[in-house]
Amino acid sequence: MILGISGGIAAYKSVEILRRLQRTGADVVPVVTEAGRKFVAPMALESLTGRRVSSSLWNDTDPIPHTSLGQRADLILVAPATADLIARYRAGLASDLLAATLLASRAPVLLCPAMHTEMWEHPATQENIDVLQGRGVHVLEPAEGSLAGGDMGIGRMREPAEIVEKAQQILLSDSPLTDLADAARRMEGVRVLVTAGGTRESIDPVRFIGNRSSGKMGHAIAAEAARRGAAVVLVTASDARTPAGIEVIRVQTAAEMEKEVLSRFADSDVVFMAAAVADFRPRVEAGSKIKKSDGPPLLELEPTPDILARLGEEKASQFVVGFAAETDDLVENAKAKLERKKIDLIVANDVSAADSGFEVDTNRAVLLWRAGEVEDLPLALKSEIAAAIVERVAGALED
Ligand SMILES: Cc1cc2nc3c(=O)[nH]c(=O)nc-3n(C[C@H](O)[C@H](O)[C@H](O)COP(=O)(O)O)c2cc1C
Repeated sequence: MILGISGGIAAYKSVEILRRLQRTGADVVPVVTEAGRKFVAPMALESLTGRRVSSSLWNDTDPIPHTSLGQRADLILVAPATADLIARYRAGLASDLLAATLLASRAPVLLCPAMHTEMWEHPATQENIDVLQGRGVHVLEPAEGSLAGGDMGIGRMREPAEIVEKAQQILLSDSPLTDLADAARRMEGVRVLVTAGGTRESIDPVRFIGNRSSGKMGHAIAAEAARRGAAVVLVTASDARTPAGIEVIRVQTAAEMEKEVLSRFADSDVVFMAAAVADFRPRVEAGSKIKKSDGPPLLELEPTPDILARLGEEKASQFVVGFAAETDDLVENAKAKLERKKIDLIVANDVSAADSGFEVDTNRAVLLWRAGEVEDLPLALKSEIAAAIVERVAGALED
């Protein structure tokens, strides 16, 4: 594994990251930029790894370090990743050893950005991150907290424990499912509609009924389909980052989602209904904020439109994929839903486990096909699960 360290204050944490990685049994090769050397002493990294710390393309004993390092790596973790390094990587520059290593590698990459809020929020950095994520690069987005110079805000690098856990998840999930992603079936000319996120049903102007869906799974599916060349429309109720290169329509309620989905259904070849659409909504939305002093209101609920069932009814040649989040009797409940909604495939996931389902970055799923086939997808990153699902659906379209 390569630990890339670029020139930000957070580089002081990279020694701890290195130690933690070593404790997991990883063989870590540090590659530090010239700016990075100003923040972390190469001697510390050399003592811990027993290797020379490389920075330059020119003064290494290995005649071709810029390609050999990246080719041998099972993962390239960059922590911290500066705004400049991220820009170089996005642009495909190979002007220093770390940037060249990133460019000359097919290994999975995990970037852990760290920078001041203004640099992180700058459209240039945000666009660079979007593009890199669209290429399959993993990004552990910075957290909010105190930054160098006493400022507060978003931009603080994630803690070493979290970074190492994420790196392990990537290595773990980089086995059977990534093989599929490598063998990616292309989807040029396929029109894909994806829904994502949990809808919000208003009680009054400030309160709503919602659910725990983060939208990450749906966004990962949209990114994966776009990566394979599909024309993707994402109807999302989530604030999660939207992948580059796709049309994004933001909605709040089940009714808004229904309207957007139905108006695009006829022009779609595949629909992934990954959104967690509310089943009930308040019958009446109060026009002004309900006062606490009036006591708890009695909410009368009514069912929301069943978008998936509607698609099942109206479907012509479209391939419709539903998602079932269950806490018990996963397969039985999902099978019943597949029949009831008359769709082609159900992706069922157990949302009662801590490492799958809502809010987390990992998931495990069971695929139930109309013809009766059932397949387990083991615990993996949502992006990897998305790759496996999209790969199989692309295969079904070819058949
Ligand atoms: C004291 C100091 C702290 C810095 N901290 C950061 C930082 O946290 N994040 C960042 O993106 N750049 C930071 N920079 C700017 C980078 O060091 C600079 O852009 C450099 O060219 C990055 O080189 P590299 O990407 O090759 O490591 C800092 C600069 C200085 C002088």
